[in-house]
Amino acid sequence: MTGAAGRDGDGMLEHLPKKVRVVEVGPRDGLQNEEKHVATTDKVKLIQALADAGLKSIEITSFVSPKWIPQLADGLEVARAVQLPSDISVSALVPNLKGYESAKEAGLKQIALFMSASESHSKKNINKSIAEATQALSEVAQQAKKDGKSIRCYISVVFECPYEGAVDPAQVVGIVKDVVAMGVDEISLGDTIGAATPNQVIALVNLLKKEVPLDKMALHFHDTRGTALANVLAGLEAGITIFDSSLGGLGGCPYAPGAAGNLATEDLVYMLQGMGIDTGINLEKLVDAGQLAEQILGKELPGRYLKATLAGRAKQAKKAALQPQATA
Ligand code: HMG
Ligand code: MG
Repeated sequence: MTGAAGRDGDGMLEHLPKKVRVVEVGPRDGLQNEEKHVATTDKVKLIQALADAGLKSIEITSFVSPKWIPQLADGLEVARAVQLPSDISVSALVPNLKGYESAKEAGLKQIALFMSASESHSKKNINKSIAEATQALSEVAQQAKKDGKSIRCYISVVFECPYEGAVDPAQVVGIVKDVVAMGVDEISLGDTIGAATPNQVIALVNLLKKEVPLDKMALHFHDTRGTALANVLAGLEAGITIFDSSLGGLGGCPYAPGAAGNLATEDLVYMLQGMGIDTGINLEKLVDAGQLAEQILGKELPGRYLKATLAGRAKQAKKAALQPQATA
């Protein structure tokens, strides 16, 4: 057991899962929202650094319209250049059959579909109603299953929509049922604008576990209002063992300029490790990857553990530089 929580709080934590799978979405969900152009070679270096840190599930890019998301227009080049060991699941976001063909051409074994729990978000994000999106994704899922691919599906704005406000959990249940019928392997529930609170997380997971086994359900939190880690804890309490996050909190929030976006991977891993929950991830190497991302983007990232650790490292380096050199 590592971390302060291990000393006094063991009894409190006994019922929580002992192992969690972290799905890294920074190279896709993060970079799709960054203004600065990132070179393909830098994206590949970043993905390699994430793999070196021990991430076993990495979403590397998307195969969407380059007119909608120019930041990821080089998806095919990225996917071709990335060379990772076979125990790492490498995936990309796919909205339709055209995107699926690119993912297939890139040789990916896993794809991630996505749809929204509200009509307005669906229209703004993919120019389709929920019914049209369900039809389009069913076609992709059918083909992907035939080809033996593993399929994850995101459902965005499951708690609150930036255009419509609170989303009715009954609406989410209906969508989840349709997605389950497509035969997907995993469903990730997105708090896309970071509005959920822990009670809502527990209530939604409890409602949805009648439709999806808990080990096929992932939670995808944004930290816009500072509730992401509290929501992870609520998810753990509810029996969830798969959480999405983004290196350094890459990506920001398109609906609230200047606000934090995706939950930072280091913050998630720090909390889990402190609670004695195994992630298989090396935090020091994760910070190295975060530092690389900051260098590539030329700015500080919002992740708190990253900020604290890099400040500590800088202080140490300054101290070392001031030490008198030992003479022979
Ligand atoms: P559309 O304009 O309605 O598409 O966009 P269309 O079918 O009419 O085609 C228009 C043009 O796009 C055509 O090219 C197609 O070939 C091309 P043109 O003839 O004009 O030269 N096209 C494509 N090109 C490349 N790859 C494709 C593709 N499909 C069509 N796959 C479309 C519809 C879905 C394509 C578009 O709206 C789109 O790409 N949207 C994606 C937007 C996006 O990526 N948003 C961010 C996703 S993140 C998210 O949703 C949340 C999540 O992260 C969870 C969370 O954070 O909570 C998952
Ligand atoms: Mg996200």
